[in-house]
Amino acid sequence: MKENIKLKKIYEKTFQKKERVRETDEFREVLTKIKWSGKNILDVGCGTGELAYLIAKKGGNVKGIDYSKNGIDIAKKKYQHPNLSYELTDVSKQISGEYDVIISIGTLEHMDRPFLMLKKFKNHLSSNGKIIITSPNWTNTRGLILMTLKLLFDAPITLADLHYFTPIDFVKWGQKLDMNLTWKTIEHSWGNGDKLIIDLKQRLPKIFNDMNINDKQQKVNLFLKWINQKVLPIIKSTKENGAIGIYILSKKR
Ligand SMILES: C[S@@+](CC[C@H](N)C(=O)[O-])C[C@H]1O[C@@H](n2cnc3c(N)ncnc32)[C@H](O)[C@@H]1O
Repeated sequence: MKENIKLKKIYEKTFQKKERVRETDEFREVLTKIKWSGKNILDVGCGTGELAYLIAKKGGNVKGIDYSKNGIDIAKKKYQHPNLSYELTDVSKQISGEYDVIISIGTLEHMDRPFLMLKKFKNHLSSNGKIIITSPNWTNTRGLILMTLKLLFDAPITLADLHYFTPIDFVKWGQKLDMNLTWKTIEHSWGNGDKLIIDLKQRLPKIFNDMNINDKQQKVNLFLKWINQKVLPIIKSTKENGAIGIYILSKKR
């Protein structure tokens, strides 16, 4: 089984690629969630620092931590701000300090023990503190197709995910942590629309190739045509069927 520490190599490589572009919808949505000014914020798995920088520009005092040296080096070079610092840290070994908000974008699903990580985050919150998590959501057409391949055929559907969360996980964790949870999903086109077709067109041939199944291109095309013409046009966007979940866990007063 894959472990968090073994993913480090993948991130180091990813951050070397110059063309890496971040999903800005996710950032835009997170930025609107609270008033950042004057708050102490920890960004766990800050990667190359884009969101940490945007929050610092809004007046938050941000510390970005990540275990990828390439990520932290790029962040330090590219995204500097007087309110912003970075630290090369493996979060499963160490977190220090107390924060008004701990954010973690697209990272919890890469942890060995996600609930223990959330518990650790809670221990580092000030009173009224919040944890803001984003993570891929699988309760949509994309999720049903890819998880069918994964659970029935052990298909390697993503590069680095160790877990495949749905809002049900967060509802359960909110209760166990005795914290209030609010959540929504975004990226509906990726879950059930045009962006899904573009994603699967690239992803499915790679998955089959990794499984040494090499004669599927024509079938992939037929399948995607069917999904695109006969399924997606009648699927409506709902609270729970976007491709990215945004979860806010708040300490009870
Ligand atoms: C999918 S990337 C997301 C990066 C960034 N939050 C963003 O949205 O661009 C996941 C990040 O988590 C970091 N990460 C994974 N496990 C970690 C750990 N145990 N300690 C610190 N960082 C970790 C990776 O190095 C990577 O930068």
